[in-house]
Amino acid sequence: MDCLWIEGGKRLSGTLEVPSSKNAALPLMCLSLMTSAPVSLEALPAVADIESMRALLKDLGAEEAAPGQFQTKNIRSIRADYEIVRKMRASILVLGPLLAREGRAEVSLPGGCNIGDRPIDIHLEGLREMGAKIEIEGGYIFASASRLKGCHFSLPFPTVTGSINLMMAASLAEGVSHFENMAQEPEVTEVAHALKAMGAKIEGEGTAQLRIEGVSQLSGLNWRVPPDRIQLLTYLAAAAITGGEIRCRPYDQSSLGAVIQKFKDMSCQVEERREEMLSRVGNLHSTHSQLWQGAKAREYLEVSLSADSLKATDIETAPFPGFPTDAQAQFMACLSIADGSSQIHETVFENRFQHVSELKRMGAQIKLNAAVATIKGVKGLSGASVMASDLRASASLVLAGLAAKGKTQVLRVYHLDRGYENIEENLQGLGARIWRAPQ
Ligand code: EPU
Repeated sequence: MDCLWIEGGKRLSGTLEVPSSKNAALPLMCLSLMTSAPVSLEALPAVADIESMRALLKDLGAEEAAPGQFQTKNIRSIRADYEIVRKMRASILVLGPLLAREGRAEVSLPGGCNIGDRPIDIHLEGLREMGAKIEIEGGYIFASASRLKGCHFSLPFPTVTGSINLMMAASLAEGVSHFENMAQEPEVTEVAHALKAMGAKIEGEGTAQLRIEGVSQLSGLNWRVPPDRIQLLTYLAAAAITGGEIRCRPYDQSSLGAVIQKFKDMSCQVEERREEMLSRVGNLHSTHSQLWQGAKAREYLEVSLSADSLKATDIETAPFPGFPTDAQAQFMACLSIADGSSQIHETVFENRFQHVSELKRMGAQIKLNAAVATIKGVKGLSGASVMASDLRASASLVLAGLAAKGKTQVLRVYHLDRGYENIEENLQGLGARIWRAPQ
């Protein structure tokens, strides 16, 4: 097991090429279960969760001729074992595709995790509305349907992976489905665009209401995984917390509105500029029409952020387009050295505050009352050994370490490796003193 060492106090500055998005790539990979034609994904991120998904897809019958070039001529197995699902909850994303294509699926129940109970009742309720028979036995979901049918379903909460599962299932169902209160996160919209490029008939993508007319089969796909808005904001936060300046690209303006506003509220200077990514992508991939389409659909910009001192601000997490829960921990690290007192209200997950006790070990003054954290900004943090508990909590400890006086050791860094690509190299490139060592 590895840990990260950070010698804090260096002002970060420079330019970052934003890595691609894990949470977009995971469902895009699952699309390869929905067609016997090739599904080719460009720019898959090199993070542990992508490796887990690769292993799962291969178990189920996918072949990968070259990195990112998937093809599932036949489904070999319909079972996603506990061994893999317990490592990566996003394995639940194979449920919709398997059921839609094969009429059967056996997927281990994911169980709770470090950020909450995380039920999947809405995924199952929606699939039942489409006519699936679903039983739970021995920790597994057993789902079957000779062919799923169109349905009317209003999601009790706009779950991200739940919306994607239902959208994938409905794309191959018989008849028309109407969904209300779907998640509007950019990753959900990305999957809708990709499904449409495969021949799915989806209307309303990017909104809470979707109409999906099922088709009997889907064609192949050539797609480029979009940049990761959560990694991007983490690096912006690294510049903010160290009083530095950073330029990041490519940046999809529509994906981070609430976050950019909060950086401004903390008195960071943020500028967005058109950049040449669009033409770069076009030149690189002009032979792949869908890749070009995907790039054209987005307006890429670059974003720069600089900060001197930070000001307190209040934050409430919410489904998109609200402030993302995946940014909460990183902002808490920043607010712990901001001028004044801030409150963070976490409304999406019930237990996403495990970084609080670790930040406090570094000198942060934070009081927790149920879902609300009150943070009284301090003059500075001091380095300590701290324990990572989940992906974004780990990122917040790295940020705190970058700003702290002295050395910080972040233990259990495997949490970070699930979703941050080359984080030490990227931060070193911006002037940070950070290195990996055996724990
Ligand atoms: N929920 C239910 N029933 C369901 C599904 C969800 O009650 O059937 C509740 C959850 O318990 C939670 C809330 O709805 O309180 C939101 O959960 P959601 O289903 O939206 O989360 P998810 O789909 O499991 C994805 C991301 C998470 C991100 C959340 C929220 C992926 C692979 N994961 O999870 O990302 O925090 O949406 O935006 O896309 C991360 O990358 O670190 C991460 C945890």
